[in-house]
Amino acid sequence: MKTLIESMKKLENQGLIRELRLHTGEFLNFSTNDYLNLSSHPLVKKRAIEAVEQFGTGAGGSRLMAGNLSLHEELEEKLAKITGMETALVFGSGFLTNMGVLTALSVRGDVIFSDKLNHASLIDGASASRATVKRYRHCNIEHLSDLICSDNSSGQKFIVTDSVFSMNGDIAPLLEIHKLARSEDCILVVDEAHAIGVFGQGGGICKSLGIVPDIITGTLSKALGSYGGFAACTAPTREYLVNRSRSFVYTTGLPPAATAAALGALEILDSTPSMGLPLLNKAAQFRNRLNELGFDTCNSNSQIVPVKVGGNSKAVTLSKSFERAGILAVAIRPPTVPEGTARLRFSLTLSHSMEDAMQVISLLKAD
Ligand SMILES: Cc1ncc(COP(=O)(O)O)c(C=O)c1O
Repeated sequence: MKTLIESMKKLENQGLIRELRLHTGEFLNFSTNDYLNLSSHPLVKKRAIEAVEQFGTGAGGSRLMAGNLSLHEELEEKLAKITGMETALVFGSGFLTNMGVLTALSVRGDVIFSDKLNHASLIDGASASRATVKRYRHCNIEHLSDLICSDNSSGQKFIVTDSVFSMNGDIAPLLEIHKLARSEDCILVVDEAHAIGVFGQGGGICKSLGIVPDIITGTLSKALGSYGGFAACTAPTREYLVNRSRSFVYTTGLPPAATAAALGALEILDSTPSMGLPLLNKAAQFRNRLNELGFDTCNSNSQIVPVKVGGNSKAVTLSKSFERAGILAVAIRPPTVPEGTARLRFSLTLSHSMEDAMQVISLLKAD
């Protein structure tokens, strides 16, 4: 207990205490990942309600026991279609997907090359696996290539990267990474959590670039407005994951409501595939204006636009001043981002107006 108290005191002194706060919906929300506002779309809600009426509230067991519903398989078919992959497998969350994929696919002697700014779930998945992990400098293809070429282990090599990085909003050099993966015989895993629904007619960045990684992972909890995760891959890889991925095997199937809500979101994207386009255009205008004013937006090139502040306390103070103005813009601090790079992360959604974005800019200018 003493260590806990000391450790909390240390966090407090560093300006790193995190607190759970109730979100009551009274703020103009610039911190949500509900990019297309689909979590409150009438059709998405209707599909969830219908699923509860038909299947009840829980799957009732692991997919391999009695919890495999027709809804799960229907969703997997639709996810494979939208990402342009052969098949897909639904997991309990995006976090569980990345943990489950990396721990199942790699064995002792393998090497995972991982971008330094990858999401925590990829970092944890890699370190929980038996493979050796080598981290390459963020989006740095030369460093990645050097690490791969100088590695003389005989195991399978993996390259693991986010497509859109969650805290920078920047995009991995996927064409080059894909080329390198193919020439060096690496298994390429791309996490499209922030890109699905938004980029490339909803199918993510790989699909829009015409590249096919070995595995695309994603979440149902951001642009698709629901909850859950998935891996899109080849049929043999899916079969392997069904048998060997512990976070798939030893957990209950996704609840019917969440599964059907994601299906509803995909139904909407099927009829309006370029929903993300106006969002990306709006984000570009917002970011360009911030850059003109000299703010550091961390090479963002997506709907996620951070403004780097530097110090932890400064970021928290700024976030509080936004709150007083009725705007939710959460301060992001270490260890989520590297030391000295605390920031406010603004995520734009379809429902934000340009006036909303300009209000943010005025507040930043006034600081
Ligand atoms: C890049 C990335 N991958 C995975 C996840 C985890 O997804 P989930 O919230 O479904 O667990 C997140 C965010 O939460 C993320 O930003």
